Amino acid sequence: MAALIPGALLGFAVLRISSSQSESTGWPAYGGGPENTHYSTLSQINKENVRELQVAWTYDAGDAFQGSEMECNPIVVDGVLYATTPKLRVIALDAATGKLKWDFDPNKGHRVFTKMRNRGVTYWADSQGQHKRIFVVARQYLYALEAATGEPVKEFGQNGRLDLRCDLGRDPAQQFISNNSPPVAYKDLLITGSIVAETLPASPGDIRAYDARTGKLRWSFHTIPHPGEFGYETWPKDAWQYIGGVNAWSGLSLDSKRGIVYAPLGSASFDFYGANRLGDDLFANCLLALNAETGERVWHFQTVRHDLWDRDLPAPPALVTIHRDGRALDAVAQITKSGFVYVFDRATGEPLFPIEYHRYPGSDVDGERAAYMQPLPAAPAPFARQMLTADMLTTRTPQAHDAVLKQFQKIRSQGQFAPPSLIGTILFSGMDGGGEWGGPAFDPTTGILYINSNEMAWILQLIENEPSNGQPATGQDLYIKNCATCHRADMKGAPPEFPSLVHISERLNEEEVREVVSQGNGRMPSFARLPGQELNAIVRYLEYGENLTVNGGAQTVTPIDLKYRFGGYNRFLDPDGYPAIQPPWGTLNAINLNTGDFVWKKTFGEYPELAAQGMTNTGSENYGGGIVTANGLFIIAATSFDKKLHIFDKATGDLLWETTLPFAGNATPALYSVNGKEYLVIGCGGGKSKAPTGAIYVAFALPGARYAAR
Ligand code: HEC
Repeated sequence: MAALIPGALLGFAVLRISSSQSESTGWPAYGGGPENTHYSTLSQINKENVRELQVAWTYDAGDAFQGSEMECNPIVVDGVLYATTPKLRVIALDAATGKLKWDFDPNKGHRVFTKMRNRGVTYWADSQGQHKRIFVVARQYLYALEAATGEPVKEFGQNGRLDLRCDLGRDPAQQFISNNSPPVAYKDLLITGSIVAETLPASPGDIRAYDARTGKLRWSFHTIPHPGEFGYETWPKDAWQYIGGVNAWSGLSLDSKRGIVYAPLGSASFDFYGANRLGDDLFANCLLALNAETGERVWHFQTVRHDLWDRDLPAPPALVTIHRDGRALDAVAQITKSGFVYVFDRATGEPLFPIEYHRYPGSDVDGERAAYMQPLPAAPAPFARQMLTADMLTTRTPQAHDAVLKQFQKIRSQGQFAPPSLIGTILFSGMDGGGEWGGPAFDPTTGILYINSNEMAWILQLIENEPSNGQPATGQDLYIKNCATCHRADMKGAPPEFPSLVHISERLNEEEVREVVSQGNGRMPSFARLPGQELNAIVRYLEYGENLTVNGGAQTVTPIDLKYRFGGYNRFLDPDGYPAIQPPWGTLNAINLNTGDFVWKKTFGEYPELAAQGMTNTGSENYGGGIVTANGLFIIAATSFDKKLHIFDKATGDLLWETTLPFAGNATPALYSVNGKEYLVIGCGGGKSKAPTGAIYVAFALPGARYAAR
């Protein structure tokens, strides 16, 4: 019975399955369970013995490459650990020994030369326990694999996979869609969000449920409402046909008892200029509660109206229970990139802390109309700073200070929700939060929510596109129009997220560039829609610097041709590449959700080379979430530069133990036990901000003699 909805029936992250040979207590789903609380009741590793932890096993998937990442939170079911690798192979390991049982490679027929992000897989078993499956999304396909062998399940979709480009109400061949967070399983349904492009054209972010047996679409919810649907009037009348995005890329949470699935939605594409989507743009930036059985809306709350800042809800919400006036309330806690926690009643969506509407400046960009008001919770206080002022600029060296001050004086810094501008607007916290995809951990025994946060300023700038005046387009024109938003007019990109295309011919030949451009990959959208001549002109321009004129390529104006493009994903850094602001550059936060008060807050992460010079405890960017245990631990890796795995006292934030990993653990760990022995596992992939890359899963345990297998 318990295998039907792993973990969910028990109401927390731990699943106990007994069989004749072994007893295992697993980590049955992404985030520890469908409630995404990252919580474990396992108690063998405790505050007293944590210093004795040792490496129990390591597994090197061996397929890291320059720029790769490994963001996977492994799952553990029946003593088997399922995870993904940098090249998106699925691996099944003996969770006690790290020995490979099977692997599945979705790349047959594809070369892998660019980053493929993936955060995990989904386990599903039917109620009789006859079918046990692992689901994973790679490129545009959702695959169903036999949990025992890794073989595709032939009866699912077409020979074991279904194409996510279908059933969106748009031409499948023109869609670019994938998912890097795993779907959730509910009864015999597999419910999934998606990742789509942030520039237009982009696919719509419909939430979809498929039959876990057959792959048949069972329901879909239009996150950009069609005519007649709730919220349609918050957009221009045809926007549902040409706008994209409004997708849940960070995963979903599920209340299996109530049958409600919660989707944290992202912004509408194009992210930074909304002249062709004037209005509030429901359900963009909403926490959306849907009936898991039917896909009908139960409630929603929009955290940002008419988003112009890419303020996607960055993590699945934690399904929590809080205590008020002696009453237990089932709630849902949603973190944001801007550093807030919204807490709602799980069933009704009623805010459990007052929401205040604040007024913000209007936009001075032609055609734009920013929302006047944005809703912010009165409590808890934000876990990231909200406004960058000159006195907060770096003092690391006098030269660094002078350089960033000069830049700062040329751009705007007006705090949260100051609209993008042509001169540059500070976004603080930045594009990667505040809160990020690692998501929070929640301790039901105390009501405390644990959040790791980035504290970085970014610069958001719009650039005017040259009007084409009906002239034929050249390769360069077409490059600027289609590619410069991310790779920049000078082709230098914004590494590591957006690669430089300078000298691309030394790395990729014409054929390979064509393949990337027409297929898309990760945050690189597909340009399958480009006429062959235009694609050719772009490729020739990139490879040989030729500037061909495309016959009849006069740039026609459609609703997705916008007057402005994005100046690129730019962190505000000093000339040496360190954050342009004074520390902390990353923090850990423990917030009591019963009261809204902070229990503790501390700086999180370091740059080893700065620490060696005496600049310690600066904090750093960190990606991947933590785990909280009933017996007093808060466990997290995440820090990008010091590569550490840290274990804190959850009550005080005091460090109990830490160790250096082979590569940064930009992922959420998992805690599980097999045959009475408890393991802590973390994926070490590195790759953030040009950090070295690897593909190693490392499992820790207490010394073997004490807990020899029975
Ligand atoms: C929305 C942002 C975005 C746009 C627009 C975009 N790209 Fe990209 N591009 C990316 C990202 C992100 C990657 C890296 C993909 C990855 O590894 O995840 C990439 C990768 C590439 C690569 C592979 C580079 C390498 O070193 O492997 C090429 C070539 C490329 N893009 C060409 C183009 C061209 C040509 C266009 C315009 C037709 C374009 N891109 C438009 C974001 C974008």
